[in-house]
Amino acid sequence: MALAGRCYYGIAATRAGRTCARGGLALLRACGLMRAFRLPLDALHLDHRLVRELMQLWSRIHWAGTDGMMPPDELLAIVRLAYACPAQGDTVELGSWVGLTTSYLAAACRARGQGDVIAVDTFAGTKEGGETYASAVKYGGSTLDAFTKNIRASGLADRIQTRVGLTTEMAARHGGRTVRFLLIDADHSYDGVKADFECWSPLVAPRGYIVFHDYAIPDVRRFVDAEVRGSAGIDPVPGAVTPNVFAVTKVAGR
Ligand SMILES: C[S@@+](CC[C@H](N)C(=O)[O-])C[C@H]1O[C@@H](n2cnc3c(N)ncnc32)[C@H](O)[C@@H]1O
Repeated sequence: MALAGRCYYGIAATRAGRTCARGGLALLRACGLMRAFRLPLDALHLDHRLVRELMQLWSRIHWAGTDGMMPPDELLAIVRLAYACPAQGDTVELGSWVGLTTSYLAAACRARGQGDVIAVDTFAGTKEGGETYASAVKYGGSTLDAFTKNIRASGLADRIQTRVGLTTEMAARHGGRTVRFLLIDADHSYDGVKADFECWSPLVAPRGYIVFHDYAIPDVRRFVDAEVRGSAGIDPVPGAVTPNVFAVTKVAGR
């Protein structure tokens, strides 16, 4: 896996290599042979600095993006937004689970030369609607050890700060650091998303992005549509994202 990642990184580091790799991988994918290559193939369309960081990440931790909870297309949509966001400051991830998306966000921070990732989680998993949505049972009740191990392996630990606790409580203790990018992916109930938005969005800088994951979950969508979309000082981020990722930006000067 690591060797494959390094080879791919070597090839994709040059423009000609990227063009050939795109063609070759597209062919393999069209033949239905390489489902696992979907993530690296799609990543070749990102800015080369970001691709470089992602290649290094893959050579260290995994290749096809199958760990963690985030599907590859959503992961790339989010990392692309995190890289493109024009504001300055840190990136905050509410709900970090075992650190997959956290490490991608840290790669975007490094590629952008912009801030750290503040990863906020109880690491105890989530119970939603009476059903266990992100159960930490198979991790012995806490995903913190798996998170720490993955972050160490990612080679991006110097860009990641971990906050163990409730997202709402951690907002109050965040201090004066500006947030340029906020990913809300913790408690997906209406009240949970609302509380996260209300506690954390005031800390987001003008032109910063606020991204809701799991927009397809009815409670998340109901909250976003009723209380975020069309609000004063909030605009949608231009450009399509995915049906499960919804991004807004804080309008500068308001
Ligand atoms: C859907 S998972 C996050 C997935 C992760 N962003 C990823 O891409 O792999 C939700 C996480 O939010 C955490 N969580 C849920 N409610 C929380 C709360 N109120 N405060 C802190 N963490 C919470 C859970 O422990 C779980 O790890």
